[in-house]
Amino acid sequence: MSDVSKLLTLADFRRLARARLEPMTWDYYRSGADGETTLRENRRAYGRWQIWPRVLVDVSERPLATTVLGTPVSMPVLVAPTAYQRLAHDDGERATARAAAAAGTVMCVSTLATVALEDVAAAAPGAPRWFQLYVHKDRALTQRLVERAAAAGYQAIVITVDTPLLGRRVADERNGFALPAHLTMANLADAALLAARSDGSSLNSYFAARHDAAFGWRDLAWLRALSPLPLVIKGVLRADDAVRAVDAGCAAVVVSNHGGRQLDGAPATLEALPEVAAAVAGRAEVYVDGGVRWGSDVLKALALGARAVMLGRPVLWGLAVDGEGGVRRVLEIVREELSRAMALSGCATLASIDRDLVRPRRE
Ligand code: FNR
Ligand code: LAC
Repeated sequence: MSDVSKLLTLADFRRLARARLEPMTWDYYRSGADGETTLRENRRAYGRWQIWPRVLVDVSERPLATTVLGTPVSMPVLVAPTAYQRLAHDDGERATARAAAAAGTVMCVSTLATVALEDVAAAAPGAPRWFQLYVHKDRALTQRLVERAAAAGYQAIVITVDTPLLGRRVADERNGFALPAHLTMANLADAALLAARSDGSSLNSYFAARHDAAFGWRDLAWLRALSPLPLVIKGVLRADDAVRAVDAGCAAVVVSNHGGRQLDGAPATLEALPEVAAAVAGRAEVYVDGGVRWGSDVLKALALGARAVMLGRPVLWGLAVDGEGGVRRVLEIVREELSRAMALSGCATLASIDRDLVRPRRE
């Protein structure tokens, strides 16, 4: 337990989380793929944009509430799906679910959660949540995951498409990264492979053995037919792919490079966002994740075409520092920062955060 009210920035959480986590867990959470260029680029891209504030606007009220896929949320900040949350705190995904519910926002629950999706749902009844799907070679298993999510009240399926196989995280290979014996991939009954330590990263072996690298555009229709839930496609960087996804019936696109953990050399998500948003042209919602660490980053992402952002690692830092309370505080910090950035840039509403508010930094 710590007094998280004394932590003022997400960087404070990162520092404390690093000190508290087992080095193997810290490495897993922190890492990007290979040389980590894309991981760094995600942050750098935010530094390449500046906010040109408008003055003498009445900013005494700044409502942050919006909707995502028709669901009301208290702010345009959602919780990204991240695997293995009980590595950070024993309450794991349950704590994140309660914190997201308290903050009035959507949690995306990973296929690779360490708490079963039904138990995550029961931890915060009635709160909005989406299920992130990894398509397995075993289609019956994949279908059961979707059906379980629908039955447990999840409101969308987020299919992650940047992961035909796992990117290589060098530290995980060196560490022989694996879940400790007391934790399981709770949604997947038969995950014995991962329990056994292999050489290198066990997660990598799991993906290679079980994940369906053959899944393609033609299979999206199959997936759509499994449940009435809207499909969110996560891990798109190209405008042509985004248009194809929307044509195939996806209700939302997440511009994401998986936090720099998949293809090293991929662009920063903030670079890709304007092209994707322009191509989608309002036919679907567009979200972005990767490197969002300040409320002013949220402002920039909204100005460049996102309806909402998702937070990945900062939520894990919150969990590591103080479970549910830590995640609550992380979300509160971003909310306060966004509200302040809006006041200081002359934006009384989310709608007034337009493309003209930001410009590339001059060299
Ligand atoms: C992830 N991410 C991820 N994405 C997904 O679709 N399913 C998953 O199970 C996971 N697991 C996961 C674990 C860890 C430790 C990290 C850091 C990330 C990617 C995640 O949803 C998101 O795209 C990025 O984390 C966003 O970048 P930031 O906010 O971490 O910079
Ligand atoms: C990761 C997978 C599990 O990024 O999405 O580690």
